[in-house]
Amino acid sequence: MAAPVVDAEYLRQVDRARRQLRALISNKGCAPIMLRLAWHDAGTYDVNTKTGGANGSIRFEEEYTHGSNAGLKIAIDLLEPIKAKNPKITYADLYQLAGVVAVEVTGGPTVEFVPGRRDSSVCPREGRLPDAKKGAPHLRDIFYRMGLTDKDIVALSGGHTLGKAHPERSGFEGAWTQEPLKFDNSYFLELLKGESEGLLQLPTDKALLSDPEFRHYVELYAKDEDAFFKDYAESHKKLSELGFAPR
Ligand code: HEM
Repeated sequence: MAAPVVDAEYLRQVDRARRQLRALISNKGCAPIMLRLAWHDAGTYDVNTKTGGANGSIRFEEEYTHGSNAGLKIAIDLLEPIKAKNPKITYADLYQLAGVVAVEVTGGPTVEFVPGRRDSSVCPREGRLPDAKKGAPHLRDIFYRMGLTDKDIVALSGGHTLGKAHPERSGFEGAWTQEPLKFDNSYFLELLKGESEGLLQLPTDKALLSDPEFRHYVELYAKDEDAFFKDYAESHKKLSELGFAPR
């Protein structure tokens, strides 16, 4: 049995890193890319083989050079000084803590963070993250493989309330909402309004409208921000703990 990751000193460093992350993310306005980093580290999980997940493996060139991770090296590098100041914290924990703080400082719900993830040096093969050009069946294939549900798919897609697409990274361009540094339910309101000048909707975003089970949650979250925040916080916690069994 490997030694436990977390002790009193570890918890002190988590507290300190959380404060340093708040400052970094507010000063640099980098909440969106931090959330995307956390999601792409965790979202490789395969519930059947128990491989991938929130294990820090995205820090390796082999993984951050996967096509879907284009641009994320920026976030990895921004976090290095915080890792250096808090060396006990695993990369796996630091990346997930950054995702949780990104949501918090932009006005989103508090996502409970349980420390103790272990780092892995095994990178998953390319192709485990969703392809934005596809539809509802693909979203289900990918998220069910992680062990997540229809509700998780819609709630977590609300993460696109933050940030924008960059043509040189993904080939897509633009933000999903008018205020891409504010975490609210505007992603769902914009989705229901349909295409509007200057805003982006990926094929996978639009798939949430055409599938009745998904659409039910889109409509709920558009009219009830509290319901979105509650479900988002639960789904984000699940995402952040893929492949991690807190002890
Ligand atoms: C950005 C696809 C789910 C958070 C992007 C981009 C694409 C994409 C193509 C643009 C990247 C760029 O050009 O910089 C998808 C697909 C998803 C998905 C197909 C399947 C449902 C999620 C989830 C989250 C998330 C679950 C978090 C909970 C973000 C954020 C950005 C982003 C915050 C903005 C990054 C930035 O501004 O630099 N996503 N995404 N996405 N995604 Fe997703």
